Amino acid sequence: MTEQVINRLKDPENITETEQKHVPVIESDDVMTAEGKFKVTVTLGEVPHVMQDDHYIEWIELHLGDIKIGRVELSPSDEKAEAIFTVEPTEEIVGIRAYEICHIRGVNVCGDCGTKAVIMKLKALASCNVHGLWESSKQVEIMSKKVGEGKECRWHA
Ligand SMILES: [Fe+2]
Repeated sequence: MTEQVINRLKDPENITETEQKHVPVIESDDVMTAEGKFKVTVTLGEVPHVMQDDHYIEWIELHLGDIKIGRVELSPSDEKAEAIFTVEPTEEIVGIRAYEICHIRGVNVCGDCGTKAVIMKLKALASCNVHGLWESSKQVEIMSKKVGEGKECRWHA
């Protein structure tokens, strides 16, 4: 079995027509709170991809870091190439990720209350039956709900 090539946006200054129709557009909050629920919408693409019998988006997947959030199967009868996911980050993610990154960049800490946060990537992967696999990502900040010592946290106000 040969590994399938994953296409990504090559040059943001010079976006091709194929890229406009295939690079997944991820819409979400920039900041998420652990133990909350957050809607993430993934659409292909900046210019809507066609949904026809002979040319359509087969599925869209969403990952948070290396955690698979889900996959939505699509068919030519779907109106548009769009999938809606619910991301529910956990305190564990913040804890593990904070530990993982602290040696490199330091833990990202809220200035007001000392609450921890981690920067993670939402990654969308989609498959076009003609043009193959396409991937894009978006950075999100995940805040712990645990309030540190001292000042009240403005994130929970
Ligand atoms: Fe396509």
